[in-house]
Amino acid sequence: MFRVNANYLNLNESYLFSTIAHKVASYKEQNPGCREVISLGIGDVTQPLVPAVVDAMEKASRQMGRQETFRGYGPEQGYSFLREAIALNDYNDRGVDIAPDEIFIGDGAKSDIANILDILGSDNTVALADPVYPVYLDSNIMAGRKEIFKLPATASNNYAPQIPRNGIDIIYLCYPNNPTGATLTRKELQEWIEYARRNRSLILFDSAYEAFITDEDVPHSIYELPGAKEVAIEFRSFSKTAGFTGIRCGYTVVPKTLTGLAECVSGNRREVSLRELWNRRQTTKFNGASYISQRAAEAVYSPAGKLQTREIIEYYRQNAKLLRESLQSLGCNVTGGINAPYIWLSTPDGVESWDFFDQLLKKCQLVVTPGVGFGEYGEGHVRLTAFNTREKTIEAIERLQTSL
Ligand code: MLT
Repeated sequence: MFRVNANYLNLNESYLFSTIAHKVASYKEQNPGCREVISLGIGDVTQPLVPAVVDAMEKASRQMGRQETFRGYGPEQGYSFLREAIALNDYNDRGVDIAPDEIFIGDGAKSDIANILDILGSDNTVALADPVYPVYLDSNIMAGRKEIFKLPATASNNYAPQIPRNGIDIIYLCYPNNPTGATLTRKELQEWIEYARRNRSLILFDSAYEAFITDEDVPHSIYELPGAKEVAIEFRSFSKTAGFTGIRCGYTVVPKTLTGLAECVSGNRREVSLRELWNRRQTTKFNGASYISQRAAEAVYSPAGKLQTREIIEYYRQNAKLLRESLQSLGCNVTGGINAPYIWLSTPDGVESWDFFDQLLKKCQLVVTPGVGFGEYGEGHVRLTAFNTREKTIEAIERLQTSL
């Protein structure tokens, strides 16, 4: 008789953002006449794709409709036009030596971050921050990993978890951080790299929110720092940078210098290239992001695309500033919202985060994300996103002013 992957029974019953969507849907059903519910919950974008991207998609669609320019399966690693544009613009032009063939195009950072576990041994120990983006934890539970260490990220350490004393095999770092909006300076990130080098650990670095960085001392890529190419894989996404949550395109960088230890059943041990393993995994299990999405992503790097996407990021940054400053002027305790699209708010009087979620939904018709959904150290907080429209962000602030 077949068996299921019983590790799934160790997960929370439902994914955080699905639970929230379900609660909001049932609130609306029970309150049909209520005013519009404003979401500052899931980090989903609201601004339309920029003209440079739309033009590229139109052109790519037309190419797909003509015999002489039609394309079927693309390379599993991504088209070279996009890998080259990324290497040049996101790395080489910033003084970072990453080659196009170290970049693998995917359908967004979320899937790659979860799928990368395919190439890592199941007996590795894992460390992640608490609170944390739930995908890191859930994907490790699904894979049956037993030793998962949670590193508290709280106000007392400025939301930068302490580096463990013992040697952990796999470490997740997300900066600018989801959910707290915290960042690491170059010096702080360098300490993690040194730790990984000393302990032969692997850092999985999620920099999906790098476009929001304004501070010179906050690195956009872990590879800006010496030694990172020997210890880190980096994940990036066009979702928040260029509004691709509905288009789907992201990429993963696996440097050629990154190796890991393979222990075979025969007892042989040898160093293997992670880039080769990831390439092997992708060619078997993935058929590439669509040609149209990849042409759209390429257009983000055109002169017009750069200008237009920068404007949108600036729009969300202003939302973040408005939210942060208004909450502060109401006497709330907030962090994040600078170099990041997320604002981390301490609930008034330490109210539990799901209770505060319910209060805001019922009193203000406002959706936020309960901090405890990101881990036990998120209790007593909620996360607000800057991704709604300016009008709705202002209205959300007005609703908060009447009820906080
Ligand atoms: C979030 O709200 O944390 C993100 O939108 C989730 C994601 O990017 O998958």
